[in-house]
Amino acid sequence: MADASRVLQVSPVIPVVTIADPQHAVPVARALLDGGVGIIELTLRTDSALESLKRIANEVPDILVGAGTVLTPRQADAAVAVGAQFLVSPGVTPGLLDHMLQLNIPVLPGVATVGEVMAVLERGLKAMKFFPAGPAGGPDYLAAIGAPIPEALFCPTGGVSLESAPAYLSLANVSCVGGSWLAPRAAMENDDWEQITNLAGEASKLSGNQVNNASRS
Ligand code: 3PG
Repeated sequence: MADASRVLQVSPVIPVVTIADPQHAVPVARALLDGGVGIIELTLRTDSALESLKRIANEVPDILVGAGTVLTPRQADAAVAVGAQFLVSPGVTPGLLDHMLQLNIPVLPGVATVGEVMAVLERGLKAMKFFPAGPAGGPDYLAAIGAPIPEALFCPTGGVSLESAPAYLSLANVSCVGGSWLAPRAAMENDDWEQITNLAGEASKLSGNQVNNASRS
């Protein structure tokens, strides 16, 4: 099933994590889990990202690990080959979407306009990443889309924080938010896994629309 609605039910916040040193991969994943966050979107923005993804998939089976920043079919294939359980792209192109839809795992394509939302729905997917959420219009924008197109479900990401998350999570068409604030680079470099656990703990207590939205999927 390519639709990622169920992936959006795992946690009120999907941590968007960029790891430079693969040795940090397993400790970051465990720290997030210890804080109650059972999902991680690992961005393909570093040379060693696939190695980090592989380590998490192999060594931390309790966390759902997906690849983020998927820009090309080749990246999608490489991520699946090392164990990615879902794929996230910052935007959609017909070629990338066609390819990802053949891979038999949940796909969360990025959208920022009403036309893109309609195009993704046309392909049979209800769940989407709204990116970049803050600059693109924030909660007001998503609330406005919900009037004509209530069936689309969003994970707003990009400029979302612990403080701004509740305004998104109160919307009927938002299942969860995404953000990089849960795994700061400095915390990883200082091996401060407790900080990441604490940030995850705060995030996991945010109340989302997850129960409401679960009944819609
Ligand atoms: C992403 O790829 O989803 C964003 O880079 C995350 O945005 P943020 O750093 O503003 O949370």
